Amino acid sequence: MAYGILSNIQLSYDGGTPILRDLNLEIHKGELLSLLGPSGCGKTTTLRIMAGLITPDSGTFMLDDKDMTTVPVHKRDFGLVFQSYALFPHMSVYNNIAFGLKMKKLPAADIDARVKRMAGICGIEEYLARFPKQLSGGQRQRVALARALVTEPKLLLLDEPLSNLDAQLRIQMRTSIKRIQQQLGITTVFVTHDQEECFSISDRVAVMDKGVIVQCASPETIYSRPASIMVARFVGYKNFFTPEQAARLGIDVPQDCTQVCIRPGDIAVVPAAEASALPCKIEVRTYLGTGYQYEVTAGGCQITVASGAEPALQPGDSAGLVFNKDKLVFLSK
Ligand SMILES: Nc1ncnc2c1ncn2[C@@H]1O[C@H](COP(=O)(O)OP(=O)(O)O)[C@@H](O)[C@H]1O
Ligand SMILES: [Mg+2]
Repeated sequence: MAYGILSNIQLSYDGGTPILRDLNLEIHKGELLSLLGPSGCGKTTTLRIMAGLITPDSGTFMLDDKDMTTVPVHKRDFGLVFQSYALFPHMSVYNNIAFGLKMKKLPAADIDARVKRMAGICGIEEYLARFPKQLSGGQRQRVALARALVTEPKLLLLDEPLSNLDAQLRIQMRTSIKRIQQQLGITTVFVTHDQEECFSISDRVAVMDKGVIVQCASPETIYSRPASIMVARFVGYKNFFTPEQAARLGIDVPQDCTQVCIRPGDIAVVPAAEASALPCKIEVRTYLGTGYQYEVTAGGCQITVASGAEPALQPGDSAGLVFNKDKLVFLSK
């Protein structure tokens, strides 16, 4: 059931270059939906339209059956964590978090309990008396998250909210966000360019490219059934073959297929003597810690293969390749 609907959104900042081109997106109630795409594809712009920070040139944004397209940001009552949407500098951390609850005129004891609980979840209890300028970037980001989450908004919009945190805290915070979001059932749109982060926390993922949504599906579907070459490349597919190349590699290709792709980890390197394997030659070996990655040639194609730690083949060695047929993706556009 669609809760939020962006329909035919078009936007150009300067009246010239279109940034969003007929963008369509449905957001389900209670889900965490990620916008994933390369830098500059229009993720922040899409979120700013949902937030009411900018109005689209055309198209509509409906939420819960109400037309929000021209409702200003302060009347939307959404939770926002944007790089450009800073904390109130003259207020303590406590008052920053409490602000939205005071606006809603909740009883003081209730406000106090909710601020402290959310500060605990976000790991900032010890900073409640400080002011934003006395915090690190990562601490500020956590205050911003607490401030956005504490009001249990109708829609939570997060623009790369973990980008200033170190690796360990990032993983810890994304788990916290997911837990709170699920517990409270807050409908959330989460912008990121980090595929792993995105897949780990999303119910659904909308992949963006050059101002349009190119695929919107579960993380599992995006990972195993990318809809286009762009999506496939973005989620880690490294081997792309034309139907002619695929035929030389012994891959059966369906009628309408224009490209075949497969991940490095879904091809096995075996001893050259194995009868069912495709003969190949090792060109380059890279050690990745978890195993080796090989660049090989077979059937006139360059192929990237990820294998375990054994046996370590050398450049120049002959070997065999076995494709995991279930993992081949046949693209038709
Ligand atoms: N205020 C602005 N004025 C003009 N162009 C902008 C402005 N903000 C963003 N852009 C341009 O719009 C495009 C999309 O930007 P953005 O939505 O920030 O992408 P993303 O968040 O996916 O990296 C980029 O080409 C960017 O340069
Ligand atoms: Mg951005």
